[in-house]
Amino acid sequence: MSLDLTYRSLVLSVAGNPRVEALIKGRARSLVRRYVAGESLEEALAVAEGLEREGVHAILDLLGEMVRTEAEARAFQGRILELVFSLAERPWPKYISVKPTQLGLDLSEGLALELLRGILREAEPRGVFVRLDMEDSPRVEATLRLYRALREEGFSQLGVVLQSYLYRTEKDFWDLLPYRPNLRLVKGAYREPKEVAFPDKRLIDAEYLHLGKLALKEGLYVAFATHDPRLIAEIRRYTEAMGIPKDRFEFQMLYGVRPEAQKALAREGYTVRAYVPYGEDWYPYLTRRIAERPENLFLVLRSLLGG
Ligand code: FDA
Repeated sequence: MSLDLTYRSLVLSVAGNPRVEALIKGRARSLVRRYVAGESLEEALAVAEGLEREGVHAILDLLGEMVRTEAEARAFQGRILELVFSLAERPWPKYISVKPTQLGLDLSEGLALELLRGILREAEPRGVFVRLDMEDSPRVEATLRLYRALREEGFSQLGVVLQSYLYRTEKDFWDLLPYRPNLRLVKGAYREPKEVAFPDKRLIDAEYLHLGKLALKEGLYVAFATHDPRLIAEIRRYTEAMGIPKDRFEFQMLYGVRPEAQKALAREGYTVRAYVPYGEDWYPYLTRRIAERPENLFLVLRSLLGG
């Protein structure tokens, strides 16, 4: 396994320890502020408004995942509907992300389907696009089933995510193709065993470009969700060389990561969206950001040491 991936795996496993969680929750405030828009919907909408002024659109994401009771899943649905209703009144592009386990996927696929359907029924007529985030590999199959079921029911404003680190992804891509999905392509953020995911960052990057070009060649609309300057440069070069217009794809990044690059791409006429998470359940999201970037671990360690 490459050094990058060993680091990530280590951080994600240590972060799962309750004592580490309590320690980080108490001391990582500045890092939280950098990556999370706030705890309330109002704070998230204010951040989205600020991004809009810079030419960057927002993907609003109510933080929360892996719920353990039906009541929690239903409460999340209620708060996501509140988000949909507030967005409907805004003049800017309306776009949210939801996680299947936030809506009870681990309890029952039927429950997640019902709650997601309820969100889409309100979102579609209000012009709100819903992206179904992709979680770790044991949940991929069920997530793809949810996506297909809802598309077959006739919902069109629903997007899916594929992760280039999984060996299975190219097959998933071909299986999804008849649905003409609006595709978000990511490298993948979870701790995965080498039996299911490429153990080497270079292979993950190569697969990312391979899948992205395939999707563009097949005429899909692709959201390239990455901060990687090398991959972004290659996608730009490729689309220009192939005469693929800028309205056939977009770039997505996370709020707080490379904000200047986000604005610069938007100024050049690319569609750019920033993923804007908000809510109280920020810990798992933050640990994935620490796992992606050793500098973030140093910031946490410094604050733990009182620096
Ligand atoms: P990677 O982490 O390999 O970094 C490559 C380079 O990018 C770095 O060398 C550096 O130059 C730059 N960079 C990266 N992070 C930086 C930072 N914090 N500050 C400055 N520069 C930085 N994952 C998933 O499994 N399911 C999902 O549904 C989603 N959804 C999603 C939506 C959006 C909008 C984004 C941007 C990402 C996701 N992800 C995700 C996360 C994704 O899988 C991945 O973990 C992160 O995007 C990090 O990978 P990168 O492609 O940015 O490259």
